[in-house]
Amino acid sequence: MRVLVLGADGYLGWPTCLYFAGRGYDVIGVDNYFKRGAAAELDCEPLIPVPNLAERARIFKNASLKIHIGDVTDYGFLLFVFKEYMPDVVIHYAEQPSAPYSMLNRDKAAFTIQNNLISTLNIIHAVKETNPDCHIIKLGTMGEYGTPAIDIEEGWIEIGHKGRKDRFLFPRQASSLYHTTKIQDTDLLWFYVRTWNLRVTDLMQGPVYGIYYDDQRIDERLFPAFHYDEIFGTVVNRFIVQAIVNHPLTVYGEGGQTRGYLNLKDTMQCVYLAAENPPARGELRVFNQITETFTVNELAEKIQRVGDKIGLNVSINHIKNPRKEKEKHYYNPKYTGLLELGLKPHFLTDEALIEMLDVIKKYQKNIQPHKFLKGIKW
Ligand SMILES: NC(=O)c1ccc[n+]([C@@H]2O[C@H](COP(=O)([O-])OP(=O)(O)OC[C@H]3O[C@@H](n4cnc5c(N)ncnc54)[C@H](O)[C@@H]3O)[C@@H](O)[C@H]2O)c1
Repeated sequence: MRVLVLGADGYLGWPTCLYFAGRGYDVIGVDNYFKRGAAAELDCEPLIPVPNLAERARIFKNASLKIHIGDVTDYGFLLFVFKEYMPDVVIHYAEQPSAPYSMLNRDKAAFTIQNNLISTLNIIHAVKETNPDCHIIKLGTMGEYGTPAIDIEEGWIEIGHKGRKDRFLFPRQASSLYHTTKIQDTDLLWFYVRTWNLRVTDLMQGPVYGIYYDDQRIDERLFPAFHYDEIFGTVVNRFIVQAIVNHPLTVYGEGGQTRGYLNLKDTMQCVYLAAENPPARGELRVFNQITETFTVNELAEKIQRVGDKIGLNVSINHIKNPRKEKEKHYYNPKYTGLLELGLKPHFLTDEALIEMLDVIKKYQKNIQPHKFLKGIKW
């Protein structure tokens, strides 16, 4: 089997290349280094230095991994890669992944729309043109659903109306422009699945945390890009870094915001399980890719308790919420589909937090506290 990983230089894309290559797949990794440029522009470089893709591929020493540098929104380039390798599966991570980035100003918003939607459109066309049987695995986000006052189903809902019934995509209402592009991606995919009979898995993923991509230890030069800043860092990763330097954990507002989370090791399992168990042609399959839910307060309290246990002095600071979002709300998503496929979750245990704290401690001298808050509001 041959897998094309788009966004291979990223936090999830790089470990995905290693994970699939280690399990007998031929892997083609593509990236245009957008994220590296954006991080340099906004003074948000990752905590752990990351060699470029070619260098990381050399360190990995696995002949089944090939790298191409190019832009997925450039259709000529993408079509060349598809024709050259004829992948069985394409995993689409190659998007602008940050809500705050998308809310910075009009240009960043326009870039996010253009990059995320055109990349998805190009992949759809390249699959149709070269091999309509190729399975598209697309990373969406739980943020597509927002925080409705009803239970969140796994992608689809049956609605009865005036005595008749039909099945629809679950209603979606994003809380940032970035999340809105993910909704639009889903709409694009659903339109082309209906029209061209493609096979697509759309993974509604929650914020990911962690460093290791499976239970093996790896050369630290192969660690994924680990961001801890307000723009690109996800909340658990950010809090872990704050805890190490005794910076108060920055909880936005009341901290009652509830979300679904998962370990990087489980992202790998989920994407792999999706690839190994493709949907039928003409199906848009949606999984909610999370393993447990927490309020932000619960996350902060866990990290405080575990930090104290290992001799840190962790405090929590409720700061004015820079985002427009509910701070107390109902939240009850369903997430059984991936478990049914065989996912074995790695939960946010004390051991998991200690594992992260131990790694981050080694890079303590790289931590720049001015990156924790960048003043982006909406
Ligand atoms: N990390 C999370 O917690 C999380 C949660 C939910 C969804 N997601 C989604 O998963 C995907 C991957 O997330 P991530 O955290 O690894 O992000 P990331 O920014 O680390 O990785 C994305 C990679 O794609 C590349 N890229 C962007 N646009 C490109 C283009 N036009 N052509 C080629 N390469 C391009 C970037 O340079 C980057 O290396 C994103 O779509 C993101 O929205 C991530």
